[in-house]
Amino acid sequence: MGSKKAKLVFVCRECGHSSVKWLGKCPQCNAWNSYAEEIDPEAIRPSRRSMLNTPSKPEALREIKANAANRLKTGIGELDRVLGGGLVAGSAVLFAGAPGIGKSTLTLQAANKVALLGNPVLYITGEESAEQIKLRATRLKCDAAELFVVAETNLDAIRNHLANIKPALAIVDSVQTLYDQELPSAPGSVGQVRECAAAIIMQAKASGTPVFLVGHVTKDGNVAGPRTLEHMVDTVLSFEGEKYQSYRLLRASKNRFGGTGELGVFEMRGDGLAEVENASRIFLDEYDHARPGCTVVPAAEGTRVLLVEVQALVTRSPMANPRRRFTGLDQNRAHMLLAVLERRAGLRLAEFEVYLNIVGGVQVEEPAADLAACFAVASSAREIKLPPSTVFIGEVGLSGEVRNVATLQQRLDESSKLGFTQAVIPRQRGNQLRTPRDMKLIQLADLREGLEKFFLVE
Ligand code: TYD
Ligand code: MG
Repeated sequence: MGSKKAKLVFVCRECGHSSVKWLGKCPQCNAWNSYAEEIDPEAIRPSRRSMLNTPSKPEALREIKANAANRLKTGIGELDRVLGGGLVAGSAVLFAGAPGIGKSTLTLQAANKVALLGNPVLYITGEESAEQIKLRATRLKCDAAELFVVAETNLDAIRNHLANIKPALAIVDSVQTLYDQELPSAPGSVGQVRECAAAIIMQAKASGTPVFLVGHVTKDGNVAGPRTLEHMVDTVLSFEGEKYQSYRLLRASKNRFGGTGELGVFEMRGDGLAEVENASRIFLDEYDHARPGCTVVPAAEGTRVLLVEVQALVTRSPMANPRRRFTGLDQNRAHMLLAVLERRAGLRLAEFEVYLNIVGGVQVEEPAADLAACFAVASSAREIKLPPSTVFIGEVGLSGEVRNVATLQQRLDESSKLGFTQAVIPRQRGNQLRTPRDMKLIQLADLREGLEKFFLVE
């Protein structure tokens, strides 16, 4: 291993000067603090170096053929939609999620669907044995003839398999298990993960094979290992949900080939993940308007509207610094809303603990949920329940004004479709809004005025 140390060099990011030790100042271009550790290209095996040196040739942009319609559909509608209509040839997708959320399950199901169309698919597993994958596949009824599995973590072996099989789709589960014997660092280290991912992404680009790189996320939601991974791939999908509940949400947090607002909804069943098409009311199962502190907001998620329940509990606190806990909402925003309620709407909260929660493990970070959160808090604080079948939509500003939100029409239509008959919304100027049939609209300009209407402040 000793000689392998020489393969790392320090390279000046300004002028490219290389040195075996780190230098504070570059002797060539005099730049300060410009050295970064890199792999010495001289030390890369010739086989690999040749790949780096494939001659490239500039082409006239108008002559270049690119067909956006030429995407590989995984056959799982919700996944294809989040991807922006399927997989683009040669693209790398980081599929991130907490352990146990269902990453292996969904990627195996996608692999099987693609393989059923007669395309070879290679599933590379670094965490489980091929037998374990087989057991899962049996449960998922995945038995396409063209689906190949290999338990491998060695980068070179994986690259050979990819070159030999030339799959239509490859899955690497997970990227954190890969290792390159050419590198001195230990498997699982940041350098290993980054270099291995880079090599696989490069091969994907060169061969046109799209790859899914499965990645674990840490407790705080970041992809474990190098952050740079997110910059290297074309698309980052995150798979979320409460481990003990059956719904799973798929979002694209980055997408070079499509939008990032789309939401895919799945349900974990005994035989794998099933698509949920009519997702708008899945989180309202237990909603009961007869309880104080509960409101509903139609949240916009990409092109779809999801009705979610906001719950608040306000209770007197013996402590000088009463506790505040927010789940599913943006923390800073929630603190701001409490301050606005206190100062602009006259709701006394200083001696009270406040808990705010979005039911079902959903994250709603958009300001359109402000009004629902404020009404939930006020309703719990005063122990006064809100009228039945009512949704609350609106952003609340620092002076207590209720501001308009995007896609209001769509939110109203969806709420009406699900049987809601009243909507509290920001005041509308002009009359572009089409009131859904059987729905009553209550327009607010100001939070305090709204709370008074519902007897929530004196
Ligand atoms: P898995 O895909 O292994 O998660 P990850 O790869 O993200 O770590 O799935 C994890 C959980 O899903 C596991 O606890 C069992 C459950 N599960 C089902 O409920 N139904 C199924 O059909 C399968 C395959 C898994
Ligand atoms: Mg797994």
